[in-house]
Amino acid sequence: MGDELIRLEKVTKRFAGVLAVDEVDLQVHAGEVHVLLGENGAGKSTLIKMLAGVHHPDSGDIRVRGQETRIDDAHHAHRLGIATIYQEFNLVPELSVAENILLGRQPHRAGVVSARANRRQVRPLLQRVGLDVDPARPVSSLGVARQQLVEIAKALSLDARILVLDEPTAALTDQEVDRLFEVMESLRADGVGQIFISHHLGEVPRIGDRVSILRDGRKVAEVPADTDEDELVRLMVGRDIDAQYPRRRHVAGQGHAPLLQVRGLTRRGAFEDITFDVRRGEILGIAGLVGAGRTEVIRAIAGADNYHSGEVLAQGKPVPRHNVHAAVAAGIGHVPEDRKTQGLVLGADVAENVSLANLRTYTRGGFVDQRRVEDDARRVTARLRVRMRNIRQSVQTLSGGNQQKVVFGKWVLAGAKILLLDEPTRGVDVGARVEIYEIINELTASGGAVVMVSSDLPEILGMADRIIVMSDGRVSGEMSFESASQESIMALAVKEVESSRAH
Ligand SMILES: Nc1ncnc2c1ncn2[C@@H]1O[C@H](COP(=O)(O)OP(=O)(O)OP(=O)(O)O)[C@@H](O)[C@H]1O
Ligand SMILES: [Mg+2]
Repeated sequence: MGDELIRLEKVTKRFAGVLAVDEVDLQVHAGEVHVLLGENGAGKSTLIKMLAGVHHPDSGDIRVRGQETRIDDAHHAHRLGIATIYQEFNLVPELSVAENILLGRQPHRAGVVSARANRRQVRPLLQRVGLDVDPARPVSSLGVARQQLVEIAKALSLDARILVLDEPTAALTDQEVDRLFEVMESLRADGVGQIFISHHLGEVPRIGDRVSILRDGRKVAEVPADTDEDELVRLMVGRDIDAQYPRRRHVAGQGHAPLLQVRGLTRRGAFEDITFDVRRGEILGIAGLVGAGRTEVIRAIAGADNYHSGEVLAQGKPVPRHNVHAAVAAGIGHVPEDRKTQGLVLGADVAENVSLANLRTYTRGGFVDQRRVEDDARRVTARLRVRMRNIRQSVQTLSGGNQQKVVFGKWVLAGAKILLLDEPTRGVDVGARVEIYEIINELTASGGAVVMVSSDLPEILGMADRIIVMSDGRVSGEMSFESASQESIMALAVKEVESSRAH
């Protein structure tokens, strides 16, 4: 094993009423990838934020290369050679890709930041992470996956000796994960020590050396990365999980009229001629590469974005375009790709957030019936195992996976009949993921329909009844779950589709 770079000893961090990290010991050596596992809210992000200078331990010691150290702030962490890729992005949306990567340390000439020098400096970094975009583009114009790659490029630009990656793969497709792992392997060969957090257990033996498992803030085990997956699950959640994809398939109402119909939906430059039906009882999966237009299609159906032509019908009735209220009234719920900016009101508490799509039913004579809101909020958050102090906790202070569960819970309470899910289990731990799948099962069993965009192919194959694949803004193929495989999906995802408008 390489030299010891980091040693945490009995590190503890408390937030008002929550013991987030409880006397945790952890070591990271040069050339090692140390994996951190645990359920949502177990304390993983809090732990690594103490290395990043974001939080300070209430007690316990941090040693960096043997030296006991108080890490004051992010700059101090950088000077110590520690770079962090955060779970919640830290990018400035208005700034360009290049500016974000070099934030605070742009090359200056006579005090003026040279945009050209900026771009020159970041190009090799973008190449390294496989991100093919103009460095001058504002970060806000990129989807979540590409923003994640910008985050990674930014951390690499620091030339750190210790790299901390908090769920870097959650937003990425398989190809991008492969590329990231190549980068991590090359850093390993250079003797960089890495801490890697993920809810995708299949990634653990591929990239990890050792695994530390947190439960309720405490470290409950340290095991080799080739430990059996079932054993890892047991250590994380304290019980067995029988089926990771508990889909109960019904004969989707063949005779029934479709619940959702999408006809020739087109937004120039984003997607073209998208046509599909979803019947009662059915889950339609949409697969494809990042940038294929899946999120844009879902957003258009949900009324969040406009489209140029085509139509959407719910239960046979046209849904007015670009009108979220009309979509909600038609029974459509939308779990968006980006929970932080689109799915949640960050300043509000859990109860307010889960009742948001359903306020009308809680309102009597102009007043919101808080008792009912709270009862319902308690019920749905218990079901989804949201880890929190109480339902009046601000969603901002929930862990990432728990925030995702709140977005999902909102549509459960609203009684949506048609759920449009964009990466619904991103960042959600194995146990809560099964709970989300069970709720989806209940919805389809009671005659609802689901459209699920996911970059997680096992999830698509395990839960969808029918799968369409998008490539470059168009549908490149369709198959039933029986005939689909990872290979057949990938082949369609890279297939070039003739524009129906050409010639
Ligand atoms: N700023 C804060 N104020 C209050 N509580 C907080 C704050 N930050 C985190 N917590 C709480 O600390 C606990 C641990 O959260 P943390 O974000 O470390 O979990 P995690 O293991 O990273 O989970 P996930 O897998 O969902 O990302 C949670 O109960 C969370 O609500
Ligand atoms: Mg976290």
